Amino acid sequence: MKKKKVRLLTILFVAILVINMITGHSDPLKAASSLNKDTLTMITSPDYPPYEFYDTKGGDRQIVGFDIDIAKTLAQKLGFKLQIMESDFNGLIPALQANRADFAMAGMTPTPERQKNIDFSIIYYEAKDTIVALKGSNLKQPQDLSGKKVGVQLGTIQEQNAQKIAQKVAGIQLKQLNKVPEVVQEIKSGRIDAAIVEDTVAKGFAQANPDLEFNTIPSSEASGSAIAFPKGSSLVEPFNKVLQQMKDLGTLKKLGTKWFSQNIIATTASSTPIKSGLNLDFTRILPDIPFILRGIPLTLLFTLLSVSLGLIWGTILSLLKIIGIKPLTWLANAYTSVFRGTPLLLQLALVYYATPQLTGYDISALEAGVLTFTLNSGAYMSETIRGGIQAVDKGQSEAAMSMGVPYWLMMWDIIFPQGLKNILPALVNETIGLLKDSALVSTIGVVEILRSAQIVGANKYIYFEPLLFAGLIYYLLVMGLTFSASALEKRLRQSE
Ligand code: ARG
Repeated sequence: MKKKKVRLLTILFVAILVINMITGHSDPLKAASSLNKDTLTMITSPDYPPYEFYDTKGGDRQIVGFDIDIAKTLAQKLGFKLQIMESDFNGLIPALQANRADFAMAGMTPTPERQKNIDFSIIYYEAKDTIVALKGSNLKQPQDLSGKKVGVQLGTIQEQNAQKIAQKVAGIQLKQLNKVPEVVQEIKSGRIDAAIVEDTVAKGFAQANPDLEFNTIPSSEASGSAIAFPKGSSLVEPFNKVLQQMKDLGTLKKLGTKWFSQNIIATTASSTPIKSGLNLDFTRILPDIPFILRGIPLTLLFTLLSVSLGLIWGTILSLLKIIGIKPLTWLANAYTSVFRGTPLLLQLALVYYATPQLTGYDISALEAGVLTFTLNSGAYMSETIRGGIQAVDKGQSEAAMSMGVPYWLMMWDIIFPQGLKNILPALVNETIGLLKDSALVSTIGVVEILRSAQIVGANKYIYFEPLLFAGLIYYLLVMGLTFSASALEKRLRQSE
């Protein structure tokens, strides 16, 4: 029995080391923010082909595009390594303000409002706004949008421009979404009538989706793209120098031709007009399956850590509940009621977004996930464990006490092992729950199974297939868990 416990503790210890390694070393948020360093951290919103998007071919999780090539050249010329992190577009400026990145490239246009909060480089590319709509819908100019639902990406100048149009043209209803592919998908599903998107981006989407067309808004002023920095950054100068060089030498133009003249999306995507009936075609996600599968280890690690830490925390809580010291019992009960009484998703968002503000510690998404799930499942498990312990025959503890066995030793050696056996099925249930709920951490940007599937879907404009495939993976994982748990239970029962 003793050996087993030692083994369990060792496994836990190793697991904690592993998560530290993962979150400590590869977490881009942790890059030093002062300038005597060898790596620059760039933040981008990879939903914007050909500027920046995920290349999911062959299982690599790589962000590529025009901006990325420019950033790489800049970093290399200035003697830095480059690290790329991502966020939705509307999170870029806050990230710079919080010094979570050294610069942002996301086809971002310098506007006077933005310039109040962040600094910009010189402009490296010019674009114009277009109206994207279904072919034949005849939505070509701003006045055609009267009475229509129009989609835009949240936090972009397209959102502002659409608002301006809405002041002149009656009855426009705006719909703001986080990512450009989502906006495009909404047109295809008929939930919105049109979208305002920059020309180079619109072109790619229209090529990949023959049912879409785009028309440049004639009156729209050209909006340039520039690199964004935290206010007062000392990088602006050197970046501008190299950018100017790249302009003069024609490097920028070359990169432009590389990314803007070819049909990059159409090679990976095909058109999927929504027809009635389920026209599923899994062959389209075949090349991306390795990419989705790569989410599995993270999901499993996450579940393992949350279950083991939750078990420890739950045990402590359950002890507080049965130990008979009133204030402690009261505290543990209050804790349980709060964590069982509020949504897990809300707890997750609070831990992730509030921790840096409250403690100054820049918690990574994975750490925030494990912490929240531990706190939450500890609350549930404490009740299960309490029940398991209290179900152990009272006579045993009385016997042990009368033989002079100390309380903690009795708990550890006699009561716990039996209690654990009692609650095994409940623990398996909890683990299954955690495994599936781990999908929630996709909302704060951990690229686990669900998020991988969503990325593939966004890249290829197909939604059902990757999601169904992700569902299948979860199901198989849960089945595997169930079988191994019942095998374990059988063995425990035989060893009785
Ligand atoms: N140029 C526009 C802006 O600055 C849109 C940029 C959107 N970029 C992106 N990666 N989604 O607001």
